[in-house]
Amino acid sequence: MRNIKELVEKMTLEEKASMCSGETFWDTQTIERLGIPSVMVSDGPHGLRKQEGGKETEDQLGNRLNPITSICFPAACATASSFDTDLIEQMGETLGEECQATDVSVLLGPAINIKRSPLCGRNFEYFSEDPYLTGKISAAHIRGVQSWNVGTSLKHFACNNQEYLRMSVDSIIDERTLREIYLAGFEIAVKESQPKTIMCSYNRINGVYSAENKKLLSDILRDEWGFKGYVMTDWGAVADRVKGIAAGLDLEMPTSHGANDAKIVEAVKNGTLDEKLLDKAVTNLLNVIFDYVDNKSKHTDAKFNRERDHKKAVEVESECAVLLKNNGVLPLNKEKKIAYIGEFAEKPRYQGGGSSHIKSWKVVSALDAAKDKGRKIEYSKGFPFNKDELNQSDFDAAVECAKNADVAVVFAGLPDALESEGFDRKNLDLPECQNKLIEEICRVNKNVVVVLHNGAPVILPWRDKVSAILELYLGGEGVGEACDRLLYGETNPCGKLPETFPVKLEDTPCYENFGGNGWTTEYKEGVYVGYRYYEKKKMAVQYPFGFGLSYTTFEFSNLKLSSSKMDDSSKITVSVDVKNTGCMRGKEVVQLYIADKTGTFGRPIKELKGFKKVQLDPQEFKTIELEIDARSLSWYSQDLGDWFAKSGKYEILVGNSSDNILAKAEINFTTKKHLPIKIGPDTTMGLLIEDERTAPIVDALFNKNGNPWEEGADIGELGEGSAEMANAMFTGLPIKSIASFGIATREEVDKFTEDLKKAVE
Ligand code: BGC
Repeated sequence: MRNIKELVEKMTLEEKASMCSGETFWDTQTIERLGIPSVMVSDGPHGLRKQEGGKETEDQLGNRLNPITSICFPAACATASSFDTDLIEQMGETLGEECQATDVSVLLGPAINIKRSPLCGRNFEYFSEDPYLTGKISAAHIRGVQSWNVGTSLKHFACNNQEYLRMSVDSIIDERTLREIYLAGFEIAVKESQPKTIMCSYNRINGVYSAENKKLLSDILRDEWGFKGYVMTDWGAVADRVKGIAAGLDLEMPTSHGANDAKIVEAVKNGTLDEKLLDKAVTNLLNVIFDYVDNKSKHTDAKFNRERDHKKAVEVESECAVLLKNNGVLPLNKEKKIAYIGEFAEKPRYQGGGSSHIKSWKVVSALDAAKDKGRKIEYSKGFPFNKDELNQSDFDAAVECAKNADVAVVFAGLPDALESEGFDRKNLDLPECQNKLIEEICRVNKNVVVVLHNGAPVILPWRDKVSAILELYLGGEGVGEACDRLLYGETNPCGKLPETFPVKLEDTPCYENFGGNGWTTEYKEGVYVGYRYYEKKKMAVQYPFGFGLSYTTFEFSNLKLSSSKMDDSSKITVSVDVKNTGCMRGKEVVQLYIADKTGTFGRPIKELKGFKKVQLDPQEFKTIELEIDARSLSWYSQDLGDWFAKSGKYEILVGNSSDNILAKAEINFTTKKHLPIKIGPDTTMGLLIEDERTAPIVDALFNKNGNPWEEGADIGELGEGSAEMANAMFTGLPIKSIASFGIATREEVDKFTEDLKKAVE
């Protein structure tokens, strides 16, 4: 074991400061005198974007611009749809091996910001609108990559939920929303899989840059969650480097060419920065760097086998695509005449633009895949893959081609220019030329299938007219082969939507606030993000969260709980039998949601707290078990500074989509935790009778003196007392009004107040 402490002690102040920023665009600092080597980090996340070459391939900032040829796996929008942690772990293992084989110490990703609005240009690179799904899938990705002793960089920490002004915008957000929605995914990933590094975001959170945010980078990340690796900036996200060191930011990327190192040295010398904080940053860095370097010899078997890894990319995408609609036309019959329409059939859109863009090894289109298999296909371009432009002769030829076929498959999607890192989308529409052609084809052929290539929800105005819709998302370089397998039923679709497809842009939760005013973006919708919002508003959607069809059918039965009682430290196992009732092997996702029935304010109708994918042969059944604990029921109380669930009833809901709950059961939860109550003139009886410490004191006063609003009591001009009215009057009564209503004397109220204060001390 290398002694990092001793090594740090040997370093000069200047050497330590120099470690805190990159040597180049992609490499950490070398200190030859002490045998500290430079290691490389690389984008990420769904493929290796290692930039190679010497000086001649660098731009003026020293950024090497020559990526190696790599395997482009499906982007996060697709991989989250798998709802399959084993699959994503395997994909991570493949990526980790590729990194080891090419000497990359950290693969920058996964990117796990919550999809607050479907407009965010970078949603294709993020997993979900749900933090639990996000956390579990990212934990699996990290486990896989790090199994090769290569680091990951969980990014962008935190609240980078839009591309518009992402480098400066201030995300204004309340503590509860921050914890429950925007941090919970990071929390799960850190606690379960301990990523070697975290990348902080560019933006501010409530006025403080992430890169200088001690609460985020130290108090929450390290002290609460136990993070052990190093924190790096997003590229160029440093404002004040010295403040960053003090807040817990270890590495600035890319290099500052010495400028910020000098500021760190100066700050230590003039006493504004405690050298111990610098030592901490350097220790965090060296721990991870040497963990990679010292274990490299154990992984000499690592290979970057592109042929093998391409097959993995096809396999992963086959398990991610989501079948949104099917009236029986799919799987396609090999004997029928099929028309492939739309240029995406020839040039699929399979990845997004920006820092995750891979120089792909081999892209196989659906058309190539069909040709390889000798399918009976007629192809007509119909519309271009890269712009919204209607060419009348292409349009007419495509309609003619569709008319003569038994089934018309339209390959639609978003062109690169409409969705990318760096900017947000303006609307949720597909190009008009595509919508027009699909409408026209529906007039001439009753069997129309639409295959979608997009990184985020789109509006499908023709969805009632077509026979089937297959959502491929951005499916990686194997998308065409995966699509062929799925269309022809060689693989049974088993993806589920990791996000809601709304009916229109105006329905989306942060429609009125998304983007902000040029300086700030206010998260006014609070915890009501994605399905949490649509369900609360009872709003119709195009397709709900968790939804996805199969070529077979499944039945859920026999929901059982290991106990119907739970407390702060116990766990319950929820089990359910799932049976394949159709004629084809398939996979189903068991989804477990929890609904708070205690009447607590501000809780979503239900929230995802467990899921598992299961493969079943026809007529086979398996019992699936999922575990829940107190945290599964809890919300984050800012007053308590902790997670809290009130004692009372909670519903366990099990289904195969958020809108298709197939079995439910109830549990009774008891907690010893208390929410803090401030006893003062405005404290209400409602709050006091909810707390077991104060309830007896309230009861004693009202039993002695009588409750004027008791059911049936004569309440004079206010009308005949109903139970509801009595309850409302009583729960809303503040301490200061007890005497005014003649319920007790002022002396009695003073004594009552004192007793209450003592009880909650
Ligand atoms: C992106 C990061 C990326 C980095 C390096 C930034 O602009 O936000 O996700 O890892 O560049 O390319």
